[in-house]
Amino acid sequence: MCGIVGYVGEKQALPILIEGLKRLEYRGYDSAGIVLFEKGALTAEKAAGKINHLEELLRGKKYNSTQGIAHTRWATHGEPTDLNAHPHFDCKNNIALVHNGIIENYRSLKALLERQGHRILTDTDTEILVHLIEQYYEGDLTEAVRSALTQVEGTYGIAVISAGEPGKIVAARQGSPLVLGNGDGENFIASDVSAILSHTKRAVYLNEGEIVTVTADKFVITTIDKVHRAPKVEEIDWTLEMIEKGGFDHFMLKEIHEQPSTLRNAIRGRLNFDEGITRLNGLNLQYDQLRRIDRIIITACGTSYHSALIGEYMIEEIAKIPVEVEYASEFRYRSPIINDGTLLFVISQSGETADTLAALREAKKKGATVLGICNVVGSSIARETDGGVYIHAGPEIGVASTKAFTSQVMVLALITNLLGRMRNLSVQQGHEMLEAIQRIPDQVEQILKIEDQIKEIARAYYRSNNFLYLGRGINFPAALEGALKLKEISYIHAEGYPAAEMKHGPIALIDENMPVVVIALKDSVHDKVMSNIAEVKARNGNIIAIANEGDTEIADRVNHVIYIPRTRTILTPLLSIIPLQLLAYHVAVLRGCHIDQPRNLAKSVTVE
Ligand code: AGP
Repeated sequence: MCGIVGYVGEKQALPILIEGLKRLEYRGYDSAGIVLFEKGALTAEKAAGKINHLEELLRGKKYNSTQGIAHTRWATHGEPTDLNAHPHFDCKNNIALVHNGIIENYRSLKALLERQGHRILTDTDTEILVHLIEQYYEGDLTEAVRSALTQVEGTYGIAVISAGEPGKIVAARQGSPLVLGNGDGENFIASDVSAILSHTKRAVYLNEGEIVTVTADKFVITTIDKVHRAPKVEEIDWTLEMIEKGGFDHFMLKEIHEQPSTLRNAIRGRLNFDEGITRLNGLNLQYDQLRRIDRIIITACGTSYHSALIGEYMIEEIAKIPVEVEYASEFRYRSPIINDGTLLFVISQSGETADTLAALREAKKKGATVLGICNVVGSSIARETDGGVYIHAGPEIGVASTKAFTSQVMVLALITNLLGRMRNLSVQQGHEMLEAIQRIPDQVEQILKIEDQIKEIARAYYRSNNFLYLGRGINFPAALEGALKLKEISYIHAEGYPAAEMKHGPIALIDENMPVVVIALKDSVHDKVMSNIAEVKARNGNIIAIANEGDTEIADRVNHVIYIPRTRTILTPLLSIIPLQLLAYHVAVLRGCHIDQPRNLAKSVTVE
């Protein structure tokens, strides 16, 4: 979604802002813009398309400015045109604003402002806000922003500068993340830390309803109601290396290959072999509280929803606690039944997904204990939950989630072990589970070595228009995730189905042009899946099977077999998904797609 970066200090602002914008590219955007304060006035350039279009406009122009704000826009209100790109200005070009989020009451505010004589030039909701600030401006930008925000309904992360107040940026958040980067003699504003990581590791995450007034050597945080807030400066533990491609062609490929190490990070220090139990202190729940849980709801979106479905299979199988999984976008508008024994988990890589955040707030309103499974430290979801487990996957830049997915599933396995040990899982059984968990990173490493074979399979099918993904039991959600990966980055229509459900409809689609990916592991439903494979074969479908090493029989019944090592059934999605991620990646590369920034998608979806 949209990205914000702002700088005030002693250095030239332009290269810092452009670098920041590039680091935010992964969020997804369709136009970009920048405004600098120079010689008592505001100078701006903005352009539809990628940041290189903006750079072309800037090329050859000389700027001498140590203060500015910049933006990447993901269009919601108004097409992605030069005009609609941010920054937006007041009538006199004295105030410039960039905005993430949506001003929901912009129509009524627009009518009001136009009656007061403001000239609104763009189709955006954002422009209204800068005119509103102008309306209140009497020489103090912070106060004008504060007054304007009291009139606004919706979500925002904003940064504002005024030609009348050199050396000052005012920023505020409500529903869209914003972080202040604190440097020596310089300060930064950004929608996420990757934009500022090369300059400082000191960060202050703004809370909902806070306004920060930033100069080169100072920043003051207040609330919209004028209450002063003491800043909490946190050390960012991500490194610059983590947000760079490190020799890989794409972030997605880098992140797929990082999985052995990200999975090791997810389990590091959390396995207590002596007692066969996991240590998850962040849950903030005592053993007796964990024992009282009699129902679990997990809510999430997209890939995180698929890991939630896998968690449902795991927890019900091992801990015998009933689990319900629901899309956060649906959960938030239902009237979910929550009682004393209900525990709610929200899963989110970014920790900023609007639907998931709203579901969390709804559940808390109803008195639920809400725990988070998040990647981004300091994110809104991480801060608003009662406790939780960080997945420690490091920054995920590719829009298509890969390493976050496996780390979420791994954390769900750790939670499953803990809940199981609170109930009927013995020390020995718990211990065996931990041993299997500990072997997973090496097994993932082994699968990554057969990438060339997967590339060849991709070559055989990359021209297909449709793919079907089948799996049963705990590998049904893995099939859903495999299909999602393919459709996100290759734009091929792909559907995931429980293998046996195929005969109730999708079988009509099968012919010699339909590649069918089947997860057919040696588990309790193996024979059933083999029957499903026979049904596809009888209709000339082309089958790519994910099978267990040693299963030689399957090779005669399918077109291609990708072998993966064996593990306990509940952990199999951690392995079966790896070839599916690689398949999606190589198909998309062969089709010439934008791997890390697929069309229409954003990394973190902060609007409804
Ligand atoms: C994953 O490949 C997707 N880009 C998307 O479905 C994503 O998982 C979803 O938007 C949820 O994001 P979150 O985990 O950051 O909440």
